[in-house]
Amino acid sequence: MKKLLIKNARVLSPADGIDEKLDVLICDGRIEKIDKKLSAEESIDMSGKIVCPGFVDMHVHLREPGYEEKETIYTGTKAAMYGGFTAVACMANTSPVADNRATVEFIINQNEKAGFVRLFPIGSVTKGQKGEELAEIADIYAAGAAAISDDGKCIMSAEIMRRALEYNRMFPSPLIVHAEDLVLSRSGQINEGLVSTLLGLKGMPREAEDVIIARDLELMKYVSSRIHFAHLSTRRGVELVREARKQGLPVSAEVTPHHLLLTDTAVKTFDTNTKVNPPLRTLEDIEALCEGLRDGTVEVIASDHAPHTFEDKDCEYIFAPFGISGIETLVPLMLDRIVAKGVISLPEFINKISVNPARILNIPFGHIQPGQEANLTVLDLEVSGTIRVDRFHSKGHNSPFDGWNYKGRAVYSVIAGKLNKLD
Ligand code: DOR
Repeated sequence: MKKLLIKNARVLSPADGIDEKLDVLICDGRIEKIDKKLSAEESIDMSGKIVCPGFVDMHVHLREPGYEEKETIYTGTKAAMYGGFTAVACMANTSPVADNRATVEFIINQNEKAGFVRLFPIGSVTKGQKGEELAEIADIYAAGAAAISDDGKCIMSAEIMRRALEYNRMFPSPLIVHAEDLVLSRSGQINEGLVSTLLGLKGMPREAEDVIIARDLELMKYVSSRIHFAHLSTRRGVELVREARKQGLPVSAEVTPHHLLLTDTAVKTFDTNTKVNPPLRTLEDIEALCEGLRDGTVEVIASDHAPHTFEDKDCEYIFAPFGISGIETLVPLMLDRIVAKGVISLPEFINKISVNPARILNIPFGHIQPGQEANLTVLDLEVSGTIRVDRFHSKGHNSPFDGWNYKGRAVYSVIAGKLNKLD
């Protein structure tokens, strides 16, 4: 029997009401005991560190199958582990699209070979993500998908969306929505506003996001279904979700670090690493997103990790693909600039990065309880560093955060009982 004892850490598990200096005993991959002064043959002293339930990034793009030059399941999940995550959910915009059982099974098998973190594939809603015909949704779930989404593309037909929402009621997970009216945002490069006018780049108005959020909230109400909104970026979007939640609708939403920390003024450098969809917005939107985090409207922080090659991004702004490689910067950036600045507390952060995504995806994470598989993230809030894209484990070095300083990061994790040192 393989035992591992974590000693003297502050164990912080908001969903279990634990915030105390305790020892955690792990036996054969499972948590056996959480108590004071436990002993075992193999132990590791974690004084001064914080043991949290394993972090879950519910929105990443791993690019395999089809775009292995940008990322593979091996490199992306390795990056996830080094970013402090114990589980990730990967989006379906691969080639072929994960719109069928075989592709979902392939993704699961590739992750078994990689073996860094737990992986939960998200299947597509429509065939080929074309928005025209429903994918084999029941088959996708049977193969092991955790949810469905056409993320990267918006389902423009309200009728297809209605059918998808109705069909998805049979399953316990929400439909994850990429809200973007593609007619309003067509050819857009950045947020529509003063900066887009100054730079002469075509804008993507906030209304492109807001009208789809409003539409989909009406549709989900009509057919009594559930929605999770990916990468919320606008003030009005937060208001719409807040109003819906007040009415008791089963809707949740996520925000990314880049939408919390950067505005469209970052595009003035024409650095293509600032090109992301939805685009970086304005200070007013950031304030609303922070308020959404504080009052519980926004329940999840996710990276929308979207790796691209150097060559993909080494071009004029209008030709670059959208996306930021974000899985290795989320935890330090959020600890330093959202938690330490008092936007949300550390327990609230743990809720948004572990407890809530696990609940939304119905996966057994978010707790530190005896009997559970041992998936833990260990934080050190005192360690400082600088983000360096050349140290990323991800193939994608496309980050606008290169050179940013931080204090606080994940220093260890335990995944299915296995201890990992993260440096
Ligand atoms: O910036 C983005 N990149 N937004 C998306 O919705 C898709 C993603 C990607 O797949 O590159």
